[in-house]
Amino acid sequence: MALYTIGDLHLSLGSNKSMEVFGTAWEGYVERLQEAFSRLQDGDVTVLCGDLSWGMSLEESLEDLRFIDALPGRKILLKGNHDYWWNTAAKMKRFFADNGLETLEILHNNCLWYGDVALCGTRGWFYELDGPERAHNEKMIAREAGRLRMSLVAAGSAPKLCFLHYPPIYQGYRCPELLSVLAEYGVRACYYGHLHGVVQRRALEGQYGGVEYSLVAADYLQFVPKKICD
Ligand SMILES: [Fe+2]
Ligand SMILES: [Fe+2]
Repeated sequence: MALYTIGDLHLSLGSNKSMEVFGTAWEGYVERLQEAFSRLQDGDVTVLCGDLSWGMSLEESLEDLRFIDALPGRKILLKGNHDYWWNTAAKMKRFFADNGLETLEILHNNCLWYGDVALCGTRGWFYELDGPERAHNEKMIAREAGRLRMSLVAAGSAPKLCFLHYPPIYQGYRCPELLSVLAEYGVRACYYGHLHGVVQRRALEGQYGGVEYSLVAADYLQFVPKKICD
């Protein structure tokens, strides 16, 4: 049994937005994902850090969700900024059950478990979303910080790993509201996606404030899920 993570699969099996138009980095990405995942076992767990499907609704994402479901092990899904298909937890669970998607779980306002390690997280927020309506953004950041806190509180005193879609720290950018929650709850490591292409060079990989950060966007990992622990 092992724990893995990867984000930004950007699947488009039921729609027409293949990432292969973005150049050689994405060439054959669906097959590369399938090949890398084929080395996992049924007892393994993978946290998927958002931007999973280009579908605009659950129905449009069904083929992508079937692809993810067919990969070995449990898959824990987190929302990214492109997951327009995302719905209420109740509707998603119902949709998964109705379509026989038995290996998918949702990380949203809750925490899930890998043995006695708590898997916590939320989408997060990012400075590129800052606009003239600062008050609105503060509201969004406060909401995301609240969701993260709720997830960490649910973990109690267990060791905690955190999964976000947006990086809470990047180059000169800091999201103090999220960073302080991570520090307050003694999160050991934080995994995030969202960054693609050349900006990946400026991503934080390593320690900051006692938390170990890693970028796990699929193209950064060359479509091989990152192993966190056995
Ligand atoms: Fe992405
Ligand atoms: Fe994203």
